[in-house]
Amino acid sequence: MKAIVCLLSLGMSELPDIENMYRLDGKVCIVTGASSGIGDRFAKVLAAAGAKVVLAARRKERLEQLAAELPGALAIQCDVSDDDQCRNLIAQTIENCGRVDVLVNNAGISDAINPAEEADIETFRRVVDVNLNSCFLLSGLAARDMLSRKEGSIINIASVHGLVASAPNLQPAYVASKAGLVNLTRDLAVQWAKSGVRVNAICPGYFETELTQVMFDDDRSSRWIARNAAMGRGGAVDELDGALLFLASSASSYVTGIPLPVDGGWVAR
Ligand SMILES: NC(=O)c1ccc[n+]([C@@H]2O[C@H](COP(=O)([O-])OP(=O)(O)OC[C@H]3O[C@@H](n4cnc5c(N)ncnc54)[C@H](OP(=O)(O)O)[C@@H]3O)[C@@H](O)[C@H]2O)c1
Repeated sequence: MKAIVCLLSLGMSELPDIENMYRLDGKVCIVTGASSGIGDRFAKVLAAAGAKVVLAARRKERLEQLAAELPGALAIQCDVSDDDQCRNLIAQTIENCGRVDVLVNNAGISDAINPAEEADIETFRRVVDVNLNSCFLLSGLAARDMLSRKEGSIINIASVHGLVASAPNLQPAYVASKAGLVNLTRDLAVQWAKSGVRVNAICPGYFETELTQVMFDDDRSSRWIARNAAMGRGGAVDELDGALLFLASSASSYVTGIPLPVDGGWVAR
């Protein structure tokens, strides 16, 4: 009784419905790069929370296989480095599902491990195009719909290497693209903060996927990962679930513009 009186006197609302606070029933969520790794997992998690998921990537068969497992899911082939295909992704989503509630900009590639003085500008441009430029274009297109309804959440999948350098793992284009994505996240968040559209980033440490398989398969690299993550290990992909659901749902209704590291303490060191 005392506690209730105390809550009321502080002007607090009722205690949260903890079981439902991360639910996304009826929400339309786009996940780019849903054909493997983190994107495949994210699509499954959003669907498990009740969302209708739109799966985008270049490998269509993989998307169709995944869509068959997820009730109401839609597979749309999309190379995010192609502007017209990005426009088509958002247009098709709105045509088929009526709106976009959550956009997860997850598609990403890395440059080959190379000292910067030996890297070529074409590779740099290609990585920035996929990892950063596409997020700018897709966010703007999705935001037009979100802003008209004053509601929406955009989640950019950046990296700890958007926050700190990756040397001796030499991938300058990747690091630059992810750092750009972190600050793009802040800028879009501030632009749209009063209009109900939130923009946040997740900054994963090292997780075993197709992108990082060579590193996890290599003794020296996997020891380097374990040494640099304060928790002494790489992450398991399901350890990103909580961050995703938090940022996608109303549980984070007062959170915008943050880069959220999920990294076993990588950037804390
Ligand atoms: N794994 C990690 O440790 C880690 C750490 C930090 C950040 N991340 C970030 O997490 C995201 C997912 O990576 P992942 O680890 O899950 O790697 P992954 O298994 O290689 O997945 C990458 C996804 O991006 C898609 N993709 C690549 N280029 C594309 C393009 N031009 N158009 C559309 N889709 C494209 C791929 O699909 P298609 O080939 O079918 O197009 C694939 O579905 C990336 O942004 C990555 O930078 C990963």
